[in-house]
Amino acid sequence: MITADIGVLLVNNMCTLKCKKCITLTPYQKRPVNYKLENLKKDIDGFFEIFDSCNHFDIEGGETLLNPDIAEVVRHALRYKDRFKYIALLTNGTLTPKKELLEVCRGEKIFFIVDDYGEALSVKKPQLVALLEEYKIDYRVDTYNGENQYYGGWIDFGDYSLKNYTDDELEAKFKKCRTGKDLPYIKDGKIFPCTVQALGIKHIPLPAGEYIDLRDTSKTLAEKREAAAGFFKKPVTHCKYCKGFIVESPRLPAAEQFKEGELTDDMKFCE
Ligand SMILES: C[S@@+](CC[C@H](N)C(=O)[O-])C[C@H]1O[C@@H](n2cnc3c(N)ncnc32)[C@H](O)[C@@H]1O
Ligand code: SF4
Repeated sequence: MITADIGVLLVNNMCTLKCKKCITLTPYQKRPVNYKLENLKKDIDGFFEIFDSCNHFDIEGGETLLNPDIAEVVRHALRYKDRFKYIALLTNGTLTPKKELLEVCRGEKIFFIVDDYGEALSVKKPQLVALLEEYKIDYRVDTYNGENQYYGGWIDFGDYSLKNYTDDELEAKFKKCRTGKDLPYIKDGKIFPCTVQALGIKHIPLPAGEYIDLRDTSKTLAEKREAAAGFFKKPVTHCKYCKGFIVESPRLPAAEQFKEGELTDDMKFCE
């Protein structure tokens, strides 16, 4: 059996906000896009061919609700509902779901995580919550503003420069890191054992053996499953550039925004 705690599907790398410390580096993407519905469906199928089950299946971005086909994506993921406890949809409270998505979610094992970045940013939170109530869809609001932020706030993942860790330091950091464990990330035809590999950081090499290319027809399903069975056991190249998702790291207030004109094209280091 090949299992994971959380399977995470990224439906885009674009957003309505510009959070400086965004974990998925969304503001730093050179080419913001919504991934195509046909490819997302194939990626979901590919994931569940390889992984027998996961605890929950998360759908996020970027801003999840910006994907115009999100209802169809959720409908497709629900085909596999006997393989997970629920689907979590993460959203930043800037948008409301279309009726089609609400209808797809009604009565299903769907859980919305509404991140509340405060009245000035999560401007649609009240309407979003009212719709979830109306359609009796489960949800949780995580407060990411003011004094008592969820989990103490966000983590600063640094600038992703090469860190020159010793082997022991690298191993110790990897052991403590949340994101390289049991949390496969599905992005645009690939499954990665670590979030950071999925972000397209230009200056970090991505060796072929460190992820699964779902669209590589030269590899058999058995070979892809074997690769998945080897996930999460040792550091990957990206670990040498990362501070790690260490739960006890110092926290920052969430969602500090770039001001108008502050984010320039040459700061976009992901492609
Ligand atoms: C990248 S966001 C995508 C979904 C949506 N745009 C949102 O912000 O809710 C996924 C989750 O990562 C969290 N997150 C983003 N940057 C983070 C950071 N630096 N440290 C910890 N969590 C972070 C967000 O609060 C959200 O719950
Ligand atoms: S809302 Fe902020 S954290 Fe979420 S994807 Fe957008 S920029 Fe990143």
